[in-house]
Amino acid sequence: MSVVGNRKFLKGYEEAVIKAFQSDQSRGVPVPEMVKPFPESSRRIGLPEPGEVNLGDVSLTAIIDQRQSRRKFTEDPVTLEELSFLLHATQGIKRQIRNKENMLAATIRTAPSAGARHPFETYLIVSRVTGVAPGLYRYLPLEHSLGFLHSDPDLPNAVVEACCGQKFVGTGAVIFIWTALPYRMEWRYHQYAAKFVAQDSGHLCQNLYLAAEAIGGGTCGIGAYYQDKIDAVIGVDGADEFSIYIAPVGKIRSRRTVRIDLELLQRYTGVFQSGETGKKFTVQVAGDRLMLDISGRTRFTLNAFTETEFRIDDTDAEIRFEFDDNGRVRSVSVDEFGEISHLERVEEQA
Ligand SMILES: Cc1cc2nc3c(=O)[nH]c(=O)nc-3n(C[C@H](O)[C@H](O)[C@H](O)COP(=O)(O)O)c2cc1C
Repeated sequence: MSVVGNRKFLKGYEEAVIKAFQSDQSRGVPVPEMVKPFPESSRRIGLPEPGEVNLGDVSLTAIIDQRQSRRKFTEDPVTLEELSFLLHATQGIKRQIRNKENMLAATIRTAPSAGARHPFETYLIVSRVTGVAPGLYRYLPLEHSLGFLHSDPDLPNAVVEACCGQKFVGTGAVIFIWTALPYRMEWRYHQYAAKFVAQDSGHLCQNLYLAAEAIGGGTCGIGAYYQDKIDAVIGVDGADEFSIYIAPVGKIRSRRTVRIDLELLQRYTGVFQSGETGKKFTVQVAGDRLMLDISGRTRFTLNAFTETEFRIDDTDAEIRFEFDDNGRVRSVSVDEFGEISHLERVEEQA
C-alpha cells in the first residue's frame, strides 16, 4: 500500500471510531492540553541532546536479552546525558501536530500511544543525578528540560512508604513516577479511554527498561503502591491526574563474574538457616557450577563477583559467604534488594 493510501486508510478508520464512540471530539469540543503547562517564571534545568549519551557499542539484541527487573542499585550517579536519554526514550517528542487554530493537537513521541493522545506526565524524584540537586522535578517534553517543583530529603522515604515498604525503590538514583491525565484520552475515545491509558503506560516502562539497561543501569516497574499516598507525594489531585506507574532507576553492578576453580567450589557448600525467618538455603555443586536451593522450592545458579560474593542468577539478589579461620563457611548473608538476612550453617552437606 502506498504511503498516501495508508494515511487515507488510517484517517478513515479514526473518523469512524471517533463517531462511533460519541466522544467530546466528535461533538466539536476543542482538544485539551496535550502537555501540562509549567509556569514561565519557575526554575528549569536544560537537558543535553539525547544523542549526546555514550552507549558504547551495546546491541539491541543483547539489551533485550539481558533485560530483567533490577532491584539492587550501586551508589553511582546517573549523568545528565543519561537522564536526558531515558526521558527521550520514554516520553521524548519527535514531532508536534497543530490544528487549524494552531493548537497542539497531537505529539508524536518515541513511545506509541493510542491516537497519539499521550495521556502522561513524568515526575522525577532525583537523588543522584550529576549536576541536578536532589528533589522533585517534572519533565517538560516540549522543551526537553526539567521543571523544578520542590526539594525535600524525605521524598525517597515517602515513596518507599507509599510503595508498601519496598525499600529498594528509595535506593534508585532517580525514581520515575508517571501520571495519567485521562481526559486527554477520553476526549477522543470516551468510554474506551481507560483501556488505552493502561495499554499505553506499559510502553513507557518497557522503553525505560531497555534504555536503562543500555546505560549500564536498570529499573523495575512498580505497581504495588497506595494510590493516594503517591499522588500526595507528587502533588496531584488523584482524579484529573493520578499516578499510574513507578520505576526506580539506578546503575547496576557489572555483570562480569569470576571463575572459581572446580576443586574450590566444594568449600562453599552447606545448609544454612535463618533463626529469625526459618528460611533454609542449601548450597551444592552441580556439574561445574554452584547452585542455591531455597527451602526445597527454587534453584538458582550462583555466579561469583569475587571469591566471597556471588550473584543469585536471574535475580539481583546477592549472597556473601563468611568463612571462619579454618577457611570453612560459617554463615551467609543474603541481600535481597536491600533486605539483608543472615543464615547460619546448620549441618554438613551430605
Ligand atoms: C505492571 C507491573 C507491576 C510490577 N510491580 C512490581 C512491584 O510492585 N514490585 C516489584 O518488586 N516488582 C514489580 N514488578 C516486576 C515484576 O515482578 C517482574 O517483571 C516479574 O517478576 C518478571 O521478572 P523480570 O522483569 O525480571 O523478567 C512489576 C511488573 C509489572 C509489569
